[in-house]
Amino acid sequence: MARRLRLGMIGGGPGSFIGSVHRMAARLDDQYTLVAGAFSSDPGRVQAIGEQAFLDPGRAYTDWREMVRAEAARADRPAVVAIVTPNDLHHAPAKACLEAGFHVICDKPMTTTWADARDLAATVARTGRLFALTHNYSAYPQVRLMREMVRGGELGALRLVQMDYAQEWAATAVEATGNRRAEWKTDPARAGAGGTLGDIGTHAYQLACFVTGQPAASLCAELTAFVPGRRLDDNAHILLRYDGGMRGGLWASQVAIGSKNAFSLQVIGDKGALVWQQEHPNQLLFTRLGESVRCLEREISGSRLPPGHPEGFIEAFGQLYNDFAEQIRAQLEGRAPKPEALLVPTVEEGCESVRFVLGAVKSSKLGGVWLPRADWTS
Ligand SMILES: NC(=O)c1ccc[n+]([C@@H]2O[C@H](COP(=O)([O-])OP(=O)(O)OC[C@H]3O[C@@H](n4cnc5c(N)ncnc54)[C@H](O)[C@@H]3O)[C@@H](O)[C@H]2O)c1
Repeated sequence: MARRLRLGMIGGGPGSFIGSVHRMAARLDDQYTLVAGAFSSDPGRVQAIGEQAFLDPGRAYTDWREMVRAEAARADRPAVVAIVTPNDLHHAPAKACLEAGFHVICDKPMTTTWADARDLAATVARTGRLFALTHNYSAYPQVRLMREMVRGGELGALRLVQMDYAQEWAATAVEATGNRRAEWKTDPARAGAGGTLGDIGTHAYQLACFVTGQPAASLCAELTAFVPGRRLDDNAHILLRYDGGMRGGLWASQVAIGSKNAFSLQVIGDKGALVWQQEHPNQLLFTRLGESVRCLEREISGSRLPPGHPEGFIEAFGQLYNDFAEQIRAQLEGRAPKPEALLVPTVEEGCESVRFVLGAVKSSKLGGVWLPRADWTS
């Protein structure tokens, strides 16, 4: 068995959502050990996680810049740092970590501006460090199967791609109730130009690109803020055109009462169709033209448990951590990584999602006009 990789973390204090998921994902297959963290700027909160994780007290920091400086100087420095802070605090720590020689795992959306996105891509290229973006939905076994089947021609020529991602948590002015996560998610200075669009629309768009291999060529968007006083969209309807004739639709909403995490991706070609639903992640629905719907159950390959034992969100997150560990070890050993390890979303995929958010915001502001991708960031 390979020795565990040392992991640092920025963000992910007590009560935060995704930091604890990253810690579970890192532990799931024994590939990483958390050795350092700047989990919060609040000393009490940092200490709480540090004690829980048995960190050396000197390695639990309240200032992420200090953590990067101090950890970079240690012989037992982390190999990789996970960045799980609000969106406006991805670019600066990610860049500093890469420049200090750490590999980086960063949550989405990658950055809040196009200049920062391109800067991060340039920093990854310049430093030669590895970068993973946790668009975790792309690591579900049935999504990877969907990708293989679509790209292998099982559906024929692609005609339609439909992305629906609906949640209900922002159906009321939850940001006015003292909910700190809702506060930053609805604040343009911290979340970026897209609200729901940046939060979950980016997952939907990335997944469609991952499965079909095609970024959109143009888009037409209508973004709405239904909750009075809300400064960012809580609902997005977007039409998409692709080179080669495929058409797409994306609906992302956080005012969709009745939907908890209803994310689905549907791809339809001239010979067949596939549907994957996040709330039933072990099944992939496959229909050939004129035949009945078949349910493809998750098989053993690519997953930890035999078929029939459901796997879900944490396991998919763990898969990204595993695949990234393989990339890091391959680089350390001077060999090529296993091909499946290269399915981890990249800094370029992060750029594509940032570009998409900016394009949709611009189209909507212009009254819902069609915008070719060249105009999304100009
Ligand atoms: N991949 C996914 O499925 C997924 C799901 C949820 C959130 N996210 C992303 O993860 C990120 C965090 O989201 P969340 O829901 O966990 O937010 P959250 O508000 O629950 O947690 C943010 C954490 O960052 C910490 N933080 C803030 N400023 C800091 C600073 N200066 N130094 C150190 N720590 C600091 C806070 O203390 C808190 O612990 C966001 O970018 C979000 O879009 C991804």
